[in-house]
Amino acid sequence: MKFFIDTADVKEIKELAATGMVDGVTTNPSLAAKSGKKFLDLVREICAVVPGPVSAEVTATDFDTMMKEAAVLRKIAANVTIKVPLTPDGLKACKTLSGEGVMVNVTLCFSPAQALLAAKAGASFISPFVGRLDDVGTDGMALIRDICTIYKNYAFKTEVLVASIRHPMHVVEAAKIGAHVSTMPPSTLRQLFNHPLTDKGLKAFLDDWAKTGQSIL
Ligand code: G3P
Repeated sequence: MKFFIDTADVKEIKELAATGMVDGVTTNPSLAAKSGKKFLDLVREICAVVPGPVSAEVTATDFDTMMKEAAVLRKIAANVTIKVPLTPDGLKACKTLSGEGVMVNVTLCFSPAQALLAAKAGASFISPFVGRLDDVGTDGMALIRDICTIYKNYAFKTEVLVASIRHPMHVVEAAKIGAHVSTMPPSTLRQLFNHPLTDKGLKAFLDDWAKTGQSIL
C-alpha cells in the first residue's frame, strides 16, 4: 500500500518525507487555504520535496475553466496530479486530461456508482472519503470494499485512494481490503509508528544494556 499525506503544511511534508514512508501528497482547497501560501507556489514547493504524485485541485466548477486551471497546474511539475470533483464537468475534465496522459485524482466520492464513473473516465485515482461517511453514521469502509470489488471485476486501472482517514485503523482496514493508497493527516502517519509495548520493550533493553557498562562504538 502506498502512503500519501493529506496536508499542505510543507514543514510536516519535509519531516515525514525524511522517514521514507511518503509516496505522495494530497491537498485540497481547504488545506491550501490553511497554509496561507499562494497556491501555485505551494504546489511547486511540495512537488520539489516529494517526487511521487502531488494532487492539486481545480477550483472551477465548469469544464472550460477547469481545463484552463489544469493547464496552469500541470505546468508546475511532472508529478502534479490534477484533482477534480466528482461532478459531470469534473468527470468530463478527467476524461479529457487522462486522454492527454495527465494523472487525475477524482475527489469527493461517496458511492460505488460514482467510483464506477470515475474509472470509466480514466481516473488515475478515485478518492472515497471514509471519515466523512463514518461521521454521518454510515460505514465508510464498506464503500472501499465495494469499489475494490467493482474495479477488480473489470480490471480497471484506477487506484483506490482512501481519503478522509481519521485514525490508524482506517489505514489497517483499507490495507486488509487491498486498497492501493491511503492518504492521511500527518498525525495519523506518526501514530502508525507507535505501540506502547515497543516503548516499554525498548526501555527494558536499554536499561539492561546500561547495566553492562559496555558500548558498541
Ligand atoms: O483531501 C480529502 C480528504 O482527505 C479530506 O479529509 O478529514 O477533511 O474529511 P477530511
